[in-house]
Amino acid sequence: MANLAEVLDVVDDATLDALESLAHQAAAAAGDLLMHERPADNELQVATKTTPSDVVTEMDEAAEAVITSLIRTFRPEDAIVGEEGGTTAGLTAVRWVIDPLDGTVNYLYRIPCWAVSIAAQVMVDGQWRSVVGVVHSPALRSTWHARLGAGAFLDDADGRERLRVSGQTQLSQALLATGFGYDAARRAEQGRTVAHMAPRCRDLRRAGAAAVDLCWVADGRLDGYWERGIKLWDHAAAALIVAEAGGIVTDLYGGPPGSDVVIAANSGLWPDLVAELKAGDVLGSGV
Ligand code: IPD
Repeated sequence: MANLAEVLDVVDDATLDALESLAHQAAAAAGDLLMHERPADNELQVATKTTPSDVVTEMDEAAEAVITSLIRTFRPEDAIVGEEGGTTAGLTAVRWVIDPLDGTVNYLYRIPCWAVSIAAQVMVDGQWRSVVGVVHSPALRSTWHARLGAGAFLDDADGRERLRVSGQTQLSQALLATGFGYDAARRAEQGRTVAHMAPRCRDLRRAGAAAVDLCWVADGRLDGYWERGIKLWDHAAAALIVAEAGGIVTDLYGGPPGSDVVIAANSGLWPDLVAELKAGDVLGSGV
């Protein structure tokens, strides 16, 4: 992760203010749409993407359109990477990474664990670094957010709370979460890793939205999380929130999270978690 001084060499504090405010505005607008304009079950249009179980609804696409239109209005020269295809190149040092609806299957089934995820990133030394992250879950009445160097927060019915990851460092006592990809062969391998991990921790959860899983690590509801194969838009905002809450989000070797596997925990739990994930063949055959 870049530090604030490196980022401030590229963009000034007023720009960070503007990015933060736009991320909140766009997440709120998309969240309102998803909450209040969802068609009835029999009218919701659903298509498939990479596999028959990888669904996209008309609401994923409508929410992404709301977000990209706001970004293009206020910051027309920034790059955008959006899960549903709203990707455009930019002319500035800023890029937006958007998952308009993380947890689409939950949304489809009216399970409230889904969120809008928006990260603003700045190019520092040739690498995109998240400087603002907002994960907004209207159905959970929760918004997790962070700005580089300024801490991570949860806004909910009780007000605003500064976040800190859990202090649990014993894997056998840790509550962990994971998720599954949409490809059947990969899912079978992920099941074998779950079988390895289940007897070695307190318990496992599969809530169905990677961004929320990561935010639950940030707010201490979970002690750790791993998942193979999640995409940049699933973790770009939430990884900053975990980091600003004092946790770490890495790949299997301690580097920045990538598409192989994303692991989040406090730094005391991380080594044993990684060791068991390696023993549980978390990378599988690469399918
Ligand atoms: C999915 C969710 C899920 C995770 C999958 C993701 P989507 O994102 O985050 O929890 O297990 O790997 O693809 O498809 O709902 O945006």
